[in-house]
Amino acid sequence: MTDLNDLVATAKATFADALTPADLENAKAFFLGKSGRVTELMKGMATLTVEEKKSLGASINVVKQAIELALNNRRHELADAEMLGQLQAEALDVSLLGRRRGQGGLHPVSITLERIEAIFGSMGFDVAQGPEIESDWFNFTALNTPEDHPARSMHDTFYVEGGSASAPNLLRTHTSPMQIRHAVQHVKAHRLAAGVSEAGLFAGDMPEIRVIAPGRTYRVDSDATHSPMFHQCEGLWVGENVSFKDLKFVFTDFCRTFFESDDLVLRFRPSFFPFTEPSAEIDIQFQSGPLAGRWLEVAGSGQVHPNVIRNMGLDPEKFIGFAFGMGPDRLTMLRYGVNDLRLFFDGDVRFLAQFQ
Ligand code: DAH
Repeated sequence: MTDLNDLVATAKATFADALTPADLENAKAFFLGKSGRVTELMKGMATLTVEEKKSLGASINVVKQAIELALNNRRHELADAEMLGQLQAEALDVSLLGRRRGQGGLHPVSITLERIEAIFGSMGFDVAQGPEIESDWFNFTALNTPEDHPARSMHDTFYVEGGSASAPNLLRTHTSPMQIRHAVQHVKAHRLAAGVSEAGLFAGDMPEIRVIAPGRTYRVDSDATHSPMFHQCEGLWVGENVSFKDLKFVFTDFCRTFFESDDLVLRFRPSFFPFTEPSAEIDIQFQSGPLAGRWLEVAGSGQVHPNVIRNMGLDPEKFIGFAFGMGPDRLTMLRYGVNDLRLFFDGDVRFLAQFQ
């Protein structure tokens, strides 16, 4: 009997020594396998009497069960240990602070565009968006730009597929085509509202057109102050009773608000654009700060040419308009003192982060 008890104790000790499930299964064979100790004991009973077999058999069974129990316990222990090890290896330290992503922010030119929209919006101007791939008609012809105008040359304009030989498509060279697109829509809507459906120039009652149209524009040009892609913002004000005085007032107010400079001075310098007559460049002058005293060109402007008024579907005898086109990129350079336009489009975060 002590032999049997010893056997259980030996089995427990051997199982305890097994440190992996594989070791344990090997150790099992020594006790419970086909030629293991328990099987041997059973075989040894062959020569015994029936009575002896009964009592010894029962004892061997108890031992066998005890060994099996020990084996299972050790199996669970090893499985638990393995699970614990795995959990520890994969542990997440939830108390550790996460790595923050850079917050990002608006591009300086986008900041400018938002300012322009907010300021003109506060003065009752709508904001219109239009296509960057434009037709020859809207970009040039409707804007009274003659066939032989240099702006129409391949050296200045990106022509793209689509359209016809006589009316090619192009990447808009300015936002001025939006003058026509927006006005035509506006006139159409109010013609319907006024019940005037016949074709011909409209001379009925209509709310004033007051709109700005910011967006991307394209020209074959590239240096420190020119980029093949740049931004413009068009402005258009058409009514029965608008004048240069109104344009001057509105644009002065805009510039002073935009640059947060109440003593900023504007100058309208005579110029030429096919779609305005008379035309003027608008220059501004700061009275203080690093740019003080210099005249800085910020926009083109003028009274909308009667031919353009006609192309809007309006009767030039009744309606008069003023337009301007400015460069948000240049406004951004002036506002922040940036001297190379290309910095805006290189995408270098060391530059861009300075505006956040
Ligand atoms: N479209 C002109 C340009 O790109 C700018 C311009 C000048 C726009 C006079 C206007 C304007 O609306 O009246 O150079």
